[in-house]
Amino acid sequence: MEKEINFESWDFKNSNTKEYTHCVNTYPAMMIPPVARRLINLYGKDAKNLIDPFMGSGTSLVEASIVSNIKEVYGFDLNPLAILISRVKTTPLDISKLESNLSIILSNKEQGNIPDFKNIEFWFKPNVIKKLAIIKTAINKIEDENIKNFFLATFSETVRTVSNTRNGEFKLYRMSKESLEKHNPDVMKEFEKLSLKNINGMKEYLSKRIPTKINILNTSSMNELPIKPFSVDLLITSPPYGDSRTTVAYGQFSRLALQWLEYEDVASLDNRLLGGKASKKLEVKINSPILKKVIKKIAEKDEKRAREVLSFYEDFDNCVIQLNKVMAKNSFICFVVGNRTVKGINIPTDKIMTEMFQARGNYKYITTYYRNIPNKRMPRLNCPSNKAGEKSTTMCNEFIFILQKN
Ligand SMILES: C[S@@+](CC[C@H](N)C(=O)[O-])C[C@H]1O[C@@H](n2cnc3c(N)ncnc32)[C@H](O)[C@@H]1O
Repeated sequence: MEKEINFESWDFKNSNTKEYTHCVNTYPAMMIPPVARRLINLYGKDAKNLIDPFMGSGTSLVEASIVSNIKEVYGFDLNPLAILISRVKTTPLDISKLESNLSIILSNKEQGNIPDFKNIEFWFKPNVIKKLAIIKTAINKIEDENIKNFFLATFSETVRTVSNTRNGEFKLYRMSKESLEKHNPDVMKEFEKLSLKNINGMKEYLSKRIPTKINILNTSSMNELPIKPFSVDLLITSPPYGDSRTTVAYGQFSRLALQWLEYEDVASLDNRLLGGKASKKLEVKINSPILKKVIKKIAEKDEKRAREVLSFYEDFDNCVIQLNKVMAKNSFICFVVGNRTVKGINIPTDKIMTEMFQARGNYKYITTYYRNIPNKRMPRLNCPSNKAGEKSTTMCNEFIFILQKN
């Protein structure tokens, strides 16, 4: 399995990644739209439908809904914030209704309830809490569910930008004392600015959108998928790279917004995502020779870390089983993945996942594209063992591997 020398760059260094509704909300480890767009052009010419089993903020779904032949899309994610953002980004909305509702929200004075969650005062200044509660009260009065969701998504982004967190991070870190002293956000202005930006994105999206049936579900891709067997023509996704604790913490990133939106079981979200619970036994039952070698090498250095890495692939294997059931004959599978390093050992996730699909079904390896990540919002360094002095560079590049089902 050779990496293709591809002379057409997949870096998309100076591309606009915020067109259409792609501007709605920031999300960790987003796929950039031009990647999804090119994959759809290359492998989705005859596709009538598309699935993204780790949809996140719905980049591939938005792109699919502006392509004429794709009539139906399926997106799955366990993070309720990902569901909210993806629904908002793919639901066409009346601009004049958005504008009139924004005016109503901004003129509200009624305080309403402040959600009751631990450490709210640690993460938000008193005046910020007051203003957020006023906005949320007004949004909750909106009757049209889709319009309400649009403003809840904008609200959730506002929660993040006006909080006391360091905004450049995925994990929850409080600002330094000095920054906190200077931190006096104008919550209303921030919400208005983000709303106007999102309304503008919706306008652009409406001018391009093709009628598409959107199916978005808050469920794990490890479970049986509610899709007709052998019916999906194209899969485009970027899965997690490993468990949330040592790679990207989707749950932590979303926690404050979800607490403001009063979702339950928010704190346990990261444990429910792929690799959230370490395997009890270090026995690799998955039919991937590369994975077996990697786990053995990591276990020689650290048995517990090896079990943690293994659990991610065990969970992923459950997804492969489900996806194999729904992918149609001749369908294409496009995965955008990063290869991380644990205990100094490089894990070639692209090759491992290829072997895993091939062990579960009849898949032809097509190619792998390589891309640098010029400005993806990713930590440059990670600390795989969570111990000082064990930092190693994390993904500054990605592999896009393509398989075709026979
Ligand atoms: C790399 S992100 C996807 C980013 C997305 N491509 C975008 O453009 O925003 C991976 C996603 O996988 C989700 N995820 C993790 N475990 C999952 C599971 N078992 N089932 C469904 N989604 C899961 C995470 O919540 C996260 O949103």
